[in-house]
Amino acid sequence: MCGIVGYTGNRRVVPVLLEGLRRLEYRGYDSAGLVYEYDNQLVKFRAAGKLINLEQAVDENIGVASHTGLGHTRWATHGAPTRDNAHPHSDCTGELVVVHNGIIENYGRLKEELLAEGHTFSSETDTEVLAHLIEKYLDDDLATAVRQALARVEGSYALGVFWVKEPHKLVAARNQSPLVMGVDDDACYIASDIPALLPFTRQVIFLDDNELVVLEQGTYSITNVADGREIKKEIRTIDWNPAMAEKGGFKHFMLKEIFEQPQAILNTISGRIVPDTGEIDLPEIGLSNDEIRDIERIALVACGTSWHAALVAKYWIEKWVGIPVDVDIASEFRYRRLLVSERVLTISISQSGETADTLAGIRLAASLGSKIVTICNVVGSTMTREADGVIYTHAGPEIGVASTKAFTSQLTALFMLTLYLGQERQTIEQETLKELGSALVDVAAVIDTILPRVQQQVQGLIERYYDSRDFLFVGRGLNFPIALEGALKLKEISYIHAEGYAAGELKHGPIALIDKDMPVMALVPKDAVYQKTVSNVEEIKARQGRLLLIGTEGDSHLATLTDDVLYLPEVHEELNPLLYTIPAQLLSYEIANRRGCDVDQPRNLAKSVTVE
Ligand code: F6R
Repeated sequence: MCGIVGYTGNRRVVPVLLEGLRRLEYRGYDSAGLVYEYDNQLVKFRAAGKLINLEQAVDENIGVASHTGLGHTRWATHGAPTRDNAHPHSDCTGELVVVHNGIIENYGRLKEELLAEGHTFSSETDTEVLAHLIEKYLDDDLATAVRQALARVEGSYALGVFWVKEPHKLVAARNQSPLVMGVDDDACYIASDIPALLPFTRQVIFLDDNELVVLEQGTYSITNVADGREIKKEIRTIDWNPAMAEKGGFKHFMLKEIFEQPQAILNTISGRIVPDTGEIDLPEIGLSNDEIRDIERIALVACGTSWHAALVAKYWIEKWVGIPVDVDIASEFRYRRLLVSERVLTISISQSGETADTLAGIRLAASLGSKIVTICNVVGSTMTREADGVIYTHAGPEIGVASTKAFTSQLTALFMLTLYLGQERQTIEQETLKELGSALVDVAAVIDTILPRVQQQVQGLIERYYDSRDFLFVGRGLNFPIALEGALKLKEISYIHAEGYAAGELKHGPIALIDKDMPVMALVPKDAVYQKTVSNVEEIKARQGRLLLIGTEGDSHLATLTDDVLYLPEVHEELNPLLYTIPAQLLSYEIANRRGCDVDQPRNLAKSVTVE
């Protein structure tokens, strides 16, 4: 996720910006930049890679007598992580700059308009559109121009704007991306997160959606973006230490990332579903209509958690598009006789885009003539460079080693891919497309509302489960891969031996393990296979298994089977995998935390597995 820092006050600005950016490094980034005013000009430095590269670029200008500026760390979403794509981005004159966190959904249309009007662009980013759009409206007041530009913008933003003609003033605004202000006697700050402010001030104001702030040294005014109405806001004093602040007050990054899932899902959907028509727009998939129509089979290739996302997608694609789907663990895919050819579409799923086996798998498939699409969270990673098409998940950087928000964002991308294939091959009717698309948006809101409650309920249960030696997770249909994912989450962060099974498979062997000491988390939503799953649960109960059931609100039958039932709201049946992942993640997290494990960096594991 991008990081923004802005300062206007009496200090020399460059050290303030660099220190602020350093405090935002934990968010992950791939390039950085800053800008300040000097001698009636905006002076801009940008560099790909780590902050040290920016510091080297700034070099002796670090002590420049300038007192207002903006800094930015970029996590690429549109365009590779290069110097040219790094923020700040300028208008045509170079007199106005913008830093931005978020996604401008209608940037394509706006860019066409601005190009036609003669604006020239120097990056591939959506952000640069904002600089030119503000330029278009700019007369003699920056805040007015920002307001007019934002009226044209669809999408999410936290944004800082700086204009050379008002050299002590910054304008900032927010919609769906975090932005916080810091205040001091003679200075004001903006930042995308509190850690950037802590070296300077603990007095902060949290900006809300649709708020715009004009900062000028020690003064500020907050107004509504749309109508300019003044808004009074409370100043709060932050007493977090720096480590707590990085984690947004959560004890671990993993927990923070679990709670970020609703936003990550919405970011992944952003700009890809047209709400009125349900139409799915995935131009980056890199396949022509003919190529989509010609697909005979799809091969999904991935490892670990990403493989579980692929397993869910098999159910979706086969049901809604009618194309046969093979799902392979990448380290197996690459070492068997591959029956892959031009009419097989190979899709790799990888959070990092660097996993060695997955990469080798797509190279092999490409050598056999298969087109390659990758679903990935890291812009510019090796897999995205080698694929014919890319569907980016926009989960933001994931710092906890155990994948959480990257997984639910992969599910989101795969569901949209299913809808897109169904749309292009006309296997899904327009109305159904619309219904499924809006159900996907709804599920993000449902997850948002249940997260605190489910965490609390899980906390109430874990004393009975945290010292288990083994654990089983079971589910059927779409929720079978979620049982696998639950077991993986638990084993990797708590070191409890855990297995996931298709519930119907229990009686073919694993049921021998069931006794009063075996906890079993069963996923039992009211879906097409509900009765079958309940029968499997009864078999576990008959053998005194310790049942922990996750089911649909209102299903009182589950409470007759065990005391430990967590109820989730009903969502569209197809989207249960996103919802039922949440209790499995939280149970794993709370157990690992209770056992005192290093949740964010479990032993023996790495975030990016670049060796075989
Ligand atoms: C588990 C986890 C791993 C990864 C796997 C593949 O929580 O994160 O199982 O899913 O190593 O990594 P990517 O998705 O980067 O290819």
